[in-house]
Amino acid sequence: MYKKTAVALTVLCASLGMVPAHAASHPQTFAAAVKAGQHIFMTDTFGSRERANNGVSMTCDTCHINGGRTMGRLPNGKRFPSLMNAVAIFPRYNPRMHKVITIETQIRACVKNGLMGHAPAYGSQTMTDLVSYLASIARGQRVEPNGMPR
Ligand code: HEC
Repeated sequence: MYKKTAVALTVLCASLGMVPAHAASHPQTFAAAVKAGQHIFMTDTFGSRERANNGVSMTCDTCHINGGRTMGRLPNGKRFPSLMNAVAIFPRYNPRMHKVITIETQIRACVKNGLMGHAPAYGSQTMTDLVSYLASIARGQRVEPNGMPR
């Protein structure tokens, strides 16, 4: 009886995207998520093909230089704002998509269109780690939904 209830609970939790209590025997700390996210940001090419960036595969840091802490630079030299306050300005209207998007959707767009890689799934550990890292560099920034990047 107890076992059946536990199994049913696990299935229910999984279908709701929740982690059942027993899966938390090795809890992940926020600091660990930030560290993993930083590593992904600096090194992961998301299975991208070698691209026109002088034949070198890209990572997030190729465009969002200095871990996103300073102004970005496209491979063609064009500059754009940093990711310092990125987590604080989403959800945000995206003129190209003609809709409001979350930071997860923006990250997926960057992996697909920027890196030419396989985008991490919504709710995946990779996505959680990346968002945790971006949140860590935005500590103290003003929360301004639909705001402007710095
Ligand atoms: C090829 C260059 C390139 C790569 C690689 C890239 N991005 Fe971007 N990213 C951009 C540009 C350009 C923007 C500005 C918004 C736009 O034009 O889509 C942007 C915007 C963003 C934003 C929103 C910033 C804001 O405040 O508007 C986030 C968050 C972001 N990128 C995260 C990432 C992450 C995480 C990765 C790695 C998985 C990544 N990007 C890889 C070019 C890139």
